[in-house]
Amino acid sequence: MPNTRSRAHPGAQNFVPETGGLGRMAEAVRDCRGCDLYRDSTQAVFGQGPARARVLLIGEQPGDQEDRAGRPFIGPAGAVLRRALDEAGLSADAVYLTNAVKHFRWRRAEGGGKRRIHQRPDAGQVAACRPWWLAEVRLVRPEVLVALGATAGQALFGSSFRVGAARGTVLDWPVPDDGDAGGTIPTVATVHPSAVLRAPDRDEAYTGFAADLGKVAELLTRG
Ligand code: URA
Ligand code: SF4
Repeated sequence: MPNTRSRAHPGAQNFVPETGGLGRMAEAVRDCRGCDLYRDSTQAVFGQGPARARVLLIGEQPGDQEDRAGRPFIGPAGAVLRRALDEAGLSADAVYLTNAVKHFRWRRAEGGGKRRIHQRPDAGQVAACRPWWLAEVRLVRPEVLVALGATAGQALFGSSFRVGAARGTVLDWPVPDDGDAGGTIPTVATVHPSAVLRAPDRDEAYTGFAADLGKVAELLTRG
């Protein structure tokens, strides 16, 4: 058998419209077949928020509830995120929320239950979905980017990126193929809000997460 890995993940580039705004993208993503994840999920979950948001946050992928509702960060991890944004003085309605991967990857619970267990998207799926969040970043052109967790951090900075070492600092993310603009966007990486929920000491984990988002708010007041 030939190695069909790349054929399994042709990538989203041929599905992303060359022109148009976020609304056009959100429609087009429904028909994306850039990797295998569209097959077992309910729908693509595109980013959401104002087209002129000053902050754009990138998570991992939709979870069970997001997959059903078609909106990002509405489940338990989303609740943690919204609370921390609020405490940092960043209204969740004023930021743009999206994910590195637009379809939900899951497996069935052992024993054949109905529950769908979250599975991390693999590197090929993350790479395949990249054109979508890149299009979002280019259209919104935020003042600050936030990478929530390792999947987003690695999608932005490559596979050797480690959140633990970088969190809470301001990194410069070079916008790819930015032509003459050749710009960078200040980027703050932090843990994923679902890691806060899984932490042995939730309060401590939450405090650290909220402090990292506080850095984002600081960057905006400075700018
Ligand atoms: N986790 C994510 O990374 N994104 C969501 O939209 C929900 C949970
Ligand atoms: Fe396309 Fe991304 Fe969905 Fe894969 S996960 S089918 S690349 S939108």
